[in-house]
Amino acid sequence: MKIDIITVLPELLQSPFAHSILKRAREKGLLEVNVVNLRDHTLYARAQVDDYAFGGGAGMVMMVEPLVQAIESLQQTTRYDEVIYLTPDGETFNQKMANSLSLKNNLLLICGHYKGIDQRVRDHFITREISIGDYVLSGGELAAAVLTDAIGRLIPGVLNDETSALTDSFQDNLLAPPVYTRPEEFRGWKVPDILLSGNHKRIEEWRQEEAVKRTAERRPDLLE
Ligand code: ADE
Repeated sequence: MKIDIITVLPELLQSPFAHSILKRAREKGLLEVNVVNLRDHTLYARAQVDDYAFGGGAGMVMMVEPLVQAIESLQQTTRYDEVIYLTPDGETFNQKMANSLSLKNNLLLICGHYKGIDQRVRDHFITREISIGDYVLSGGELAAAVLTDAIGRLIPGVLNDETSALTDSFQDNLLAPPVYTRPEEFRGWKVPDILLSGNHKRIEEWRQEEAVKRTAERRPDLLE
């Protein structure tokens, strides 16, 4: 899969994909991430990419031409399955969306800044608008990093048995059960006996019960 990201802050997106699972996915050739600097696509002086909003009011708006120039130049070599604009007024991202996006070949993510991007880009180029939660970030970069991470780790072949996504929270609409590792006892706090029993069937049952219990306590909405 290839994920291209258009941003005015490419530096902000250097580290998030350079570690751990996403690093391995890239090294294995399963994921390619290209960060594209919007300022390389503006014809305006001093690499201007934003301007005052028509009608007045506080805040700048990202201009239509640099964005369209960047999108169309990328589209010359890549057919995107989705062109996604990260925005607080988009549909809220969740694991189900991550699962389905992980099966695509090419995604283009657009990071907004200031008061957002000119509506004409949204009307004519964006195929999907996604928010990562009901709060406002300074820009779409961190949201793009969240999407890329959540999607990238689900690409077939990226995770192995040990890191399998099947036992992640949300994969079956349940939160994940508690986990423990060595030592068996710390300050008198013991690991549940069942996990040391070696009885895999009962351990699985215990995990399922704990997952349901945790979900009922913390996220009853998931059980509805
Ligand atoms: N840009 C600013 N806030 C955002 C959010 N919550 N989700 C996605 N993109 C954003």
